[in-house]
Amino acid sequence: MQQQTLAIVKPDAFRKQSTGAILARYEKEGFKIKAARVRWLSVREAESFYAVHRERPFFSSLTAFMASGPVMTLVLEAENAVLRHRDLLGATDPAKAAPQTLRNLFGASIEENAVHGSDSEENARQEIAFFFSGAEIF
Ligand code: PPS
Repeated sequence: MQQQTLAIVKPDAFRKQSTGAILARYEKEGFKIKAARVRWLSVREAESFYAVHRERPFFSSLTAFMASGPVMTLVLEAENAVLRHRDLLGATDPAKAAPQTLRNLFGASIEENAVHGSDSEENARQEIAFFFSGAEIF
């Protein structure tokens, strides 16, 4: 069954011009790019997107980082896309991410970890709707 998930190329990877390599990897791994947009989040938008982490000690650092420069938001589609994308990302901390995963290749730290990915089908639906209207997803 085809499934969609949300990816965000974070400001660190965007700054390092890793976006093209990340998109190429998605296509190589069989993900279809159904929507893509470069945007620069405000701190308020980042706080809203990461609201579930509000009480965590890194919340203000994470949200300031996510608003520190442009990002690329993407809707990816594939069979079992949520889980397959999380596998492709690797562990949250790039130091613990398996070789050749995106965070292993492009991440620098637990904050500057290159790419965000939805962690469940329900969260994917909510996160996609946060950034894209139905008409923007092809
Ligand atoms: S996960 O994937 O939700 O289980 O990972 P988690 O460890 O809960 O982290 C959630 C997001 O918070 C970011 N994070 C941090 N940012 C800054 N400093 C510290 N110490 C830190 N720890 C975790 C992490 O990059 C996750 O971001 P996303 O965009 O969800 O991958």
